[in-house]
Amino acid sequence: MSKPKILVARAVFPETIARLSQHFDVESNQADETWSKAELARRLADKVGAFTTGSDRIDAEVLAAAPHLKICANMAVGYNNFDVPAMTARGVLATNTPDVLTETTADFGFALLMATARRMTESEHYLRAGKWTKWSYDMFAGSDIHGATLGILGMGRIGQGIAKRGAHGFGMNVIYHNRSRLSAELETECKARYVSKEELLKTADHLVLVLPYSAASHHTIGAAELAQMKPTATLVNIARGGIVDDAALAAALKNQQIAAAGLDVFEGEPSVHPDLLTVPNVVLTPHIASSSVPTRLAMANLAADNLIAYLTTNKPITPLNPEVLAA
Ligand code: GLV
Repeated sequence: MSKPKILVARAVFPETIARLSQHFDVESNQADETWSKAELARRLADKVGAFTTGSDRIDAEVLAAAPHLKICANMAVGYNNFDVPAMTARGVLATNTPDVLTETTADFGFALLMATARRMTESEHYLRAGKWTKWSYDMFAGSDIHGATLGILGMGRIGQGIAKRGAHGFGMNVIYHNRSRLSAELETECKARYVSKEELLKTADHLVLVLPYSAASHHTIGAAELAQMKPTATLVNIARGGIVDDAALAAALKNQQIAAAGLDVFEGEPSVHPDLLTVPNVVLTPHIASSSVPTRLAMANLAADNLIAYLTTNKPITPLNPEVLAA
């Protein structure tokens, strides 16, 4: 009997391809070519499953070209590349990779916060450029992490991980804002106090964004919000491009309306707003918050397990639209 056909849309660990190949007839993009939407749709025409990443848009147009598709398994916790209602309408299951990346991503959020507040990359560039000729009292003086007020916008699993690191590791005063308030138990565990968005913006010394992207969260941080922040504050975005208005942020950094920013995600990435590339007080990384070897492997395995479990036993591990199963 021939195996079901699946598409792996981006290059991934060879062991993941080997695992999937035990169950499926796999077409994969191990050359990591950049496929247009039309090319992705063309390759999905005869597939029942797809292994996707956050860069592969699955919407009504793509789905219309893929009549046999039953599941798209995203190797990411975020899934704003999926039009979930369109997938549900066509009976296509969507899955993501929650939990396995929480701690690694929280580690990175904290690393980016520290690099930003303590001006680590700016000072490294200075040193590498041969400009370091003597010690001086205010050389790259930044702001403290310990004892400062850590603001978190979006208090899901990763936000909670960052809160715990800040409160328990660095004695920070943690405040947060979220669509829904955490239970009293979780607030105690995270040592975090719920505040309004306005209070968060006005009082955080360091503000970390960890909320999912949707039309509703587009430009959650724009010129008006930046204007409410302290001039000494740092802003860190490890959530998604588009949550911050990058042009407004570049202007705020240039005018020193806030002290510094650390960005792992960008509007229209992999393009980066040109002004962000020229302002010194920003640390820029190419969307790598979950990128430790064990975590990326765990994410790939979970996406593969979702495909295998759903297509062989009808029981996916982390479904996003379980109503498809009921139907
Ligand atoms: C990465 O951005 C993810 O959503 O997993």
